[in-house]
Amino acid sequence: MARKKRRNPWVATGEVLVWVLFATLLFPVGFAGWAVGHYTSLGKSSGTKTVTVTVGSTSTAAATTTAATTTSAAAAGGDAAQGKTVFASNACASCHAFKAAGASGTIGPDLDTATAADAQKAGMSLAAFVKQSIVDPNAYVPSGYSQGIMPTTFGSSLSNTQLADLVAFLVGGSQ
Ligand code: HEC
Repeated sequence: MARKKRRNPWVATGEVLVWVLFATLLFPVGFAGWAVGHYTSLGKSSGTKTVTVTVGSTSTAAATTTAATTTSAAAAGGDAAQGKTVFASNACASCHAFKAAGASGTIGPDLDTATAADAQKAGMSLAAFVKQSIVDPNAYVPSGYSQGIMPTTFGSSLSNTQLADLVAFLVGGSQ
């Protein structure tokens, strides 16, 4: 009994000491931790603002890229139905025969029969040849025809979309 009475205060004192030490050490560490965390989160919130701006400009760049991709995609694969309208409204039919457009002009080559062969002679894909022939008719002049008859203004008077649509229409019709 006496031992227990003597021992208990020691244990209690030791415990108190441990707790005091614990509290003394833990409080500053905890406070420092909170302060650092608080600071970091403050820093983070302003950093997040910067990140938001970056994300904004990135998405703008992405939007630009998407738009550019769409434009080039449209240039590569135009709308043939729209191309028929472009063909009709630019007097192509007055010089060219082309069944899909109901055209029977004879001043220029028959776009149904001559063009694929001419593309081969020029060493170009049909679409590239047709596009070049519209934008720069003098670049390849098939035998039997003279340059300077087909207007050279389509490259500037037609929009890229109209040009792509027209190429899609001509390539589709002569296949
Ligand atoms: C005033 C007559 C004229 C008009 C209008 C005209 N072309 Fe032509 N086109 C020609 C002649 C002539 C050639 C052949 C000589 C040359 O390539 O310049 C030709 C060549 C072409 C060729 C190449 C054909 C081949 O087999 O080599 C294509 C494709 C073509 N024209 C498409 C068009 C389209 C599309 C239009 C309307 C936007 C058009 N042309 C309007 C007279 C015309």
